[in-house]
Amino acid sequence: MKKEINYKSLIEQAVIARNNAKAKFSNFKVGCALLTDDNKIILGCNIESAAYPSTLCAERIAIYSALSKGYNNFKAIAVVSDCAAKPCGPCRQIIYEYLGDIPIFLSNPKIDKIDKITIDELLPYPFG
Ligand code: THU
Repeated sequence: MKKEINYKSLIEQAVIARNNAKAKFSNFKVGCALLTDDNKIILGCNIESAAYPSTLCAERIAIYSALSKGYNNFKAIAVVSDCAAKPCGPCRQIIYEYLGDIPIFLSNPKIDKIDKITIDELLPYPFG
């Protein structure tokens, strides 16, 4: 039997990651936790820069970090922000290309609002 994903603890890890966000311009902190096939959790947070385009989203930091460590297969991703925001366009593209069809959990820091969504819903006409 396939073991259920402990998505609550994944979201809790994304809350912890969010605390490390560097959001001095937007004040919009985002945390991300990515669960690998072998149950490792890789974290990411958004990091903003005075050279604005150098800013990077929490999701891509977590995904690039995981890929650069050699993890290539994933079970789930959790993203936490004030309003349980949905990932931006470029993050959707990277989720599509490197994570594929895994559950995407969106939550707020209190974890009293949780949405579960798929990349098919977020990016119905993907490129690639
Ligand atoms: N941000 C993310 O971390 N993930 C998203 O999917 C959307 C936006 C960050 C980037 C920037 O630091 C701040 O949120 C405001 O756009």
